[in-house]
Amino acid sequence: MGLWTLLLQLHLVFGVSLTPPSDVSISSFNMEHTLNFLPGPGTLSDTHFTVQIINNRKNLWRPVVGCLELTAGQMCNLTRVFTDPYTHYKARVQAFTTTQTSSWTKSGWFQPMSDTVLGPPDVSVSGCGNCLILQLKPPATKGLQCSLQLENLYRGVILHVQRTRDGAQFRLDLPYSEEKVIMYLQPGVEYCVSISVTALLKSNHVASKPHCAFTSHPSSRSSLYLVIGLLGFFCILSFLITGLVVTGGQRSFTILRQHLSTCLLQSYTSSS
Ligand SMILES: *[C@@H]1O[C@H](CO)[C@@H](O)[C@H](O)[C@H]1NC(C)=O
Repeated sequence: MGLWTLLLQLHLVFGVSLTPPSDVSISSFNMEHTLNFLPGPGTLSDTHFTVQIINNRKNLWRPVVGCLELTAGQMCNLTRVFTDPYTHYKARVQAFTTTQTSSWTKSGWFQPMSDTVLGPPDVSVSGCGNCLILQLKPPATKGLQCSLQLENLYRGVILHVQRTRDGAQFRLDLPYSEEKVIMYLQPGVEYCVSISVTALLKSNHVASKPHCAFTSHPSSRSSLYLVIGLLGFFCILSFLITGLVVTGGQRSFTILRQHLSTCLLQSYTSSS
């Protein structure tokens, strides 16, 4: 009996003496949720960590399958555990060894719907004269496909539009849909658009990198003239060089004439 009392006392004195984990936090991107934590200072390498969660409807801590025996630096994937996007959840982490356990360290409350960060949709931008057409597509997130489509979370889209030439910019807040048209732009001019989405509840979002496109192609006729002009310029340049290199009056003149005709012929055939 004396031995048991001693063991019990030892357990009370040493049993909870492991340093608890710190910085227990839940982060979430596109409705994929992960729990991160740091081992307490002086935690030995044979220490493991176990995770439990609670929600605001059932006041009962439940262990998380797959996160019962984590090692330091491992995170716990809560995507499949937080099944209801509108419920508030909290997680807690405990350090343990074969003989000792630490006290629990809790995260803050987390609601998937309002606390997830929504990434930008996939975007393609193309010109339509004096306008731009945007095709939006939700990124593929494996965690979500069965229960909830990311697309159903999108409510609005924020477009930042910038004219490349002078940096003039404006912002549009529109309801979300797969196709968006930005009207009343200058034709033949390049604009860059960065996109972010907003959700039903107030949620954080990140903008895409800028996607750039011309409203319409710069006139094809003027680019043809540019090509012909350049070819002509190089012809004249090469006559001059040939003229400088080959000296001797009449001979160089004949060569120049031959060169001139072949060069013009070349530029004529390549432009037609
Ligand atoms: C978390 O789990 C989900 C669903 O099983 C999966 O799609 C996702 O890739 C996992 N995330 C990580 C970081 O392992």
